[in-house]
Amino acid sequence: MSLEFMDVFKEWANHYDAAVEGHDPEYHDVFVNYPFMLKEAAKRATGKTIEFGPGTGNLTLLLLAKDLELTAIEPSPEMTIIGEKKTGLTFQKGDFLNFSADSADTIISSFAFHHLTDEEKEKAISRYASLLSDHGQIIILDTLFNNKQEKEEIIRSYTQQGHLGLVDNLKTEYYPLKEVMTGIAARHGFSYESIQFNPFAHLQILKKKTFKKPTDLIGSTPLVELTQFDLPADVRLFAKLEMYNLGGSVKDRLGQNLVETGIQQGLIQNEVVEATAGNTGIGLALACQKYDLKLKVFVPEKFSVEKQEIMRALGAEIIHTDSSLGMVEARRQAKDYADKTGAYYANQFETADNPASYDSLYQELKNELGSIQMIVAGAGSAGTFTGLAERMKPEGTRTVIVEPEGSILNGGPSGSHRTEGIGVEVWPPFLKHDLIDSIETISDDDAFHMVKELAAKEGLLVGSSSGAAMAAALHQAKHVQGNIVVIFPDASDRYISQQIFKSKGEL
Ligand SMILES: Cc1ncc(COP(=O)(O)O)c(C=O)c1O
Repeated sequence: MSLEFMDVFKEWANHYDAAVEGHDPEYHDVFVNYPFMLKEAAKRATGKTIEFGPGTGNLTLLLLAKDLELTAIEPSPEMTIIGEKKTGLTFQKGDFLNFSADSADTIISSFAFHHLTDEEKEKAISRYASLLSDHGQIIILDTLFNNKQEKEEIIRSYTQQGHLGLVDNLKTEYYPLKEVMTGIAARHGFSYESIQFNPFAHLQILKKKTFKKPTDLIGSTPLVELTQFDLPADVRLFAKLEMYNLGGSVKDRLGQNLVETGIQQGLIQNEVVEATAGNTGIGLALACQKYDLKLKVFVPEKFSVEKQEIMRALGAEIIHTDSSLGMVEARRQAKDYADKTGAYYANQFETADNPASYDSLYQELKNELGSIQMIVAGAGSAGTFTGLAERMKPEGTRTVIVEPEGSILNGGPSGSHRTEGIGVEVWPPFLKHDLIDSIETISDDDAFHMVKELAAKEGLLVGSSSGAAMAAALHQAKHVQGNIVVIFPDASDRYISQQIFKSKGEL
């Protein structure tokens, strides 16, 4: 900041408060709503706050009244004497560019930023970008011109009124054009908002833009309302689109929770092992990648080749087991491997950490809909269903569990089915009978027909377990009034090799 300004401050120090309080007619319009403007600036400050140019301490007083960790940095000795006396705070010596703080959540300034040239403004904002926390912000209350014509018009009008002191000030100090500030904000990774408070003053808020990382894309999946199917008049049907998780299925929630819980319990050294039809393996592979762990998965060989390719791409090692012996054989081999090597057996089919992984799914649905009258979810390990039913049944939600023909929940014999991802060979240990209001056993034909219907009517490209869940939801819709939620665990594209869009007669 140039030395001329230090002379300006020396002069200003003694009559600044008179000007902001309206005793200087030339500055009446500049400060007409000063208390309101300061209040609006101060109310937005949060966390560790640095105020640049506190001057005579008027904004500082409002900031001190909030629960902030506040540092005030002031270059002018004359202003400092007045400001410190008024606020009781000790000001640090420094200015917008020369100061010693190294982190902040809020940087705030009133009627001082214009002392920097546009080049210096850019330098200052660039420095603040590295000093501010992730959601940090810069709050600048100061004179700003919307455009060049407006500036010229204001100067002309105040010249006519004979306010030559103000006009001189407007011409010589570095009041920026809005386009300059928006450019600086964009170049240094800030969003920009300006709220105009009087013909001169704007409150400018520059917020640090943050971007998600791929690992942030687990959970918070979209919930959509399905409107193209016939439903009873008092029913609304919502689908939770779990294919929007990073690895493309509901099982990303499981993989993340199983690995993180294993780590927290000190049970994981360097390898995880699991038996899976694929989606759990993908979820585990993502979690293992995040924590630099090896993953071995035992997969019945006839299961979707797409899922196996994806697991491999994410770093998993795949061991095929005999498809005719089902998941039971894959589980036996996974456990055997863990027993022999000390690898961490994720054990989705038995661990109580499986249902607990869906707490996030429950919380999201609750926040999205408030009250839910019926939940419909397929069962493979039955973790999704159990996690949701344990939380929703006590709230009065009707719970519907969905299986393909060939699954044993309804007492039928175990057998093969085309519908992939669901189907139970042994009653899951954590699935309590009293959590289930209804078991829907859906034929492969009905499930695959519904996959085609969902694509044709709603543009939704879902896997066959979603088709089965949808068929079940439509059967059950007559039992409730209100909101039905059906879980769609994954998408069609990982079943193309299994002719997902073909029904029985077309195969
Ligand atoms: C496509 C698909 N649908 C449904 C499920 C069933 O989920 P859960 O094991 O939680 O019962 C799975 C599980 O692997 C799946 O892959």
